[in-house]
Amino acid sequence: MRSTDLPIGRDQGVLTTSTGAPVASNQTSQTAGYNGPVLLQDFHLIDKLAHFDRERIPERVVHAKGAGAHGYFEVTNDVSHLTCAKFLSSVGKRTPIFTRFSTVGGETGSTDTARDPRGFAVKFYTEEGNWDMVGNNTPIFFIRDPIKFPDFIHTQKRDPRTHLKNPDMQWDFFSHVPEALHQVMILFSNRGTPDGFRHMHGYSSHTLKLVNEEGVPHYVKWHFRTDQGIKNFRAKEAAQMDGINPDYATQDLFEAIERGDHPSWTVYLQVLTEEQALNYEYNVLDVTKVISQKDFPLQEVGRLVLDRNPENYFAEVEQAAFSPSHMVPGIAPTADRMLQGRLFSYPDTHRHRLGANYQQLPINRPIAPVRNQQRDGPMSFGDNGGRLPNYEPNSLGGPHESHSVRETDAVSQAEGLLARHTYGLTDKDFEQPRALYNLLSKEEQQDLVDNIAGNIALAQPIFQRSILPHLLRIDNEFGSRIEAILKAKNPDL
Ligand code: HEM
Repeated sequence: MRSTDLPIGRDQGVLTTSTGAPVASNQTSQTAGYNGPVLLQDFHLIDKLAHFDRERIPERVVHAKGAGAHGYFEVTNDVSHLTCAKFLSSVGKRTPIFTRFSTVGGETGSTDTARDPRGFAVKFYTEEGNWDMVGNNTPIFFIRDPIKFPDFIHTQKRDPRTHLKNPDMQWDFFSHVPEALHQVMILFSNRGTPDGFRHMHGYSSHTLKLVNEEGVPHYVKWHFRTDQGIKNFRAKEAAQMDGINPDYATQDLFEAIERGDHPSWTVYLQVLTEEQALNYEYNVLDVTKVISQKDFPLQEVGRLVLDRNPENYFAEVEQAAFSPSHMVPGIAPTADRMLQGRLFSYPDTHRHRLGANYQQLPINRPIAPVRNQQRDGPMSFGDNGGRLPNYEPNSLGGPHESHSVRETDAVSQAEGLLARHTYGLTDKDFEQPRALYNLLSKEEQQDLVDNIAGNIALAQPIFQRSILPHLLRIDNEFGSRIEAILKAKNPDL
């Protein structure tokens, strides 16, 4: 079945109003006489128009364009020594999941082939509540302090004056925040234009923690490696596909699942003891840095399979609400500053985008029973706690806290001076971008140089001049090649 083939079903019975009353006519409004005005008493008409008027909810402020699918995660290797998370407790155990892939900067109608990171968000419906792994297809990120995030995103969105994308904004920002250049290099390599969602890896990007039964933490990075193999578009191919089918990735995912070609990812961990994490040559809490796989090889933990398309895009994909703060016992945050900012930001935006009761929506509802004293609010459905007491502690047998629950996100020590401790820029920030450049094949280096230079050339000379020293600092050859292209276009640079 193609994604455009509408399903032809059996007769579903008589159309009703939103109150369930049968509808006699859905084609003609009630009027006073043949040429007379339309009547307010026509409940079906007014209800239909009024509901239509309210069809749009705010789109996600970032990652607005996306596609999702259901599936499962299966444990393939024992990691019970690392975590007490029940869904990871035994080999062969399966957990239902929902995954959403996305681009970042564009609006809901924007192209799937944009040069952009891709979101890679997975909701694990475990017996102890939902765990959301909200990552990207890149092992790192542009910035390492959440206070910079709104500014960074503004440079990726539209110019407030012209409502156009503006290369001046992004190169101006990157020249002030050169720690972004590691991720900028991935963005302008061919990994910045993946061939659909099935042919890319996913990463937690942040270092998270796993905590075992004894309360011992390990620092881990999650890697989801595509079993379909990496496939990218080169810049020209992406532009061509944009012209042919801007929904290419959405359609490709849907149709693959529909024809039974279920995409899968093998899931790995990089595991560090607390001591190894604290003594590693790079700060493992700085999300602009990778942890070398030579130092900490990937250890397989499981397999993620997507085998079912959503029945309804809005209900399942648009209303899906992922958050790095949705954790389960055995999985815990680290002090990564970006991650800490995200723990706040996602539920905050969900309450704005979907409402205070967003967790009650079927796509977000845990399979684990939810019992608490949260009541009321807009669109509280279900029984709203029924007759159970809406306070705790109580003597009425209502849901109560239990000290036997292991609070694995509260086992760290933290102390120090309350201050704005800045990371500062050092030579270390340029080592990994340099290594990345030298890891690329000659052809990949050429594509990267051409893609970056082509984009920088769109910015005003002042911004071209301010980014060049940082590119030269990464690698003299790399920076010089870009400089040569820019100077060929503008000898006065
Ligand atoms: C979506 C904030 C960094 C991955 C979002 C959304 C917000 C947000 C507000 C929209 C959520 C929604 O409306 O449902 C932030 C902030 C960040 C940050 C404040 C830094 C301080 C990151 C990083 C990653 C990431 C580092 C990846 C490692 C995602 C993904 C989505 C998303 C995958 C889309 C989730 C979905 O499919 O619904 N982010 N973000 N974000 N973010 Fe971030």
